[in-house]
Amino acid sequence: MKLSSANINVMVKACRKAAKVLIRDFGEIENLQVSVKGPGDFVTASDKKVEKILIEELQKARPTYSILSEEVGKINNDVEFKWVIDPIDGTSNFLHGIPHFAISVGLEHNEEIICGIIYDPIKDEMFIAEKGNGSYLNNQRIRVSSRSKLKDCIIFTGGPRHESKDRELSLSEYKNFSSKVLIPIRKLGSASLDMAYVAAGRCDGFWQRNLSYWDIAAGILLVKESGGYVTDFNGGNDYIQNKNILVTNSKISKEMIEILK
Ligand code: IPD
Ligand code: CA
Ligand code: CA
Repeated sequence: MKLSSANINVMVKACRKAAKVLIRDFGEIENLQVSVKGPGDFVTASDKKVEKILIEELQKARPTYSILSEEVGKINNDVEFKWVIDPIDGTSNFLHGIPHFAISVGLEHNEEIICGIIYDPIKDEMFIAEKGNGSYLNNQRIRVSSRSKLKDCIIFTGGPRHESKDRELSLSEYKNFSSKVLIPIRKLGSASLDMAYVAAGRCDGFWQRNLSYWDIAAGILLVKESGGYVTDFNGGNDYIQNKNILVTNSKISKEMIEILK
């Protein structure tokens, strides 16, 4: 594979180390499902443990880089470089013993994402992208799908959260999609893997409201580097600020924007 930057090596090492804990804890979940207390606190503890390992490893290798991570928030340091971390993306799946969740780490340079890793530890699938060098799944180059008609596609979405102010809107978009186009829509429960699957051509598009930056940072680069488009619902570039993101294989963007806008 052509990805050899020192930063990618640092990220891979950190993810592999954190994944060991994640896999071990996932093995415990099954027992906890049937316990009276349930796995709730255990999952929170896992989240924090995984985050701690990631941060320790990344800081050891790059002591001056800043960090934005879901549980601890911001650690301000160097203004040029920043790690963006979601230690477990797909917590509800993890909590229920569903083997579909990932560690997501992105690296920003001057507010632009230059490296991204999404690692599904259960399937041992590591999606990696580096700016200008393409996207890879376990060392093999990946590309977005070539389907050009929405009616032939599989589309992913997620949410809405119960507390989301956009709940009604999200539900009506979902209805619009299913009734207007009659295409299969899936909710797999991990936004980072949803985006990685678009990058790998497994599905053709994904949209969601109200995502946080750590959910999408690595995914944005993976999709772009595999030939896909990342936009807001109007086809613009405001997806990080307004938190509404649409990613596609590029060919179905127009049709999807028509439905979403
Ligand atoms: C969640 C997942 C889910 C998406 C939610 C996210 P978490 O992240 O990505 O697919 O629908 O909006 O918050 O809480 O599991 O890290
Ligand atoms: Ca997340
Ligand atoms: Ca998370």
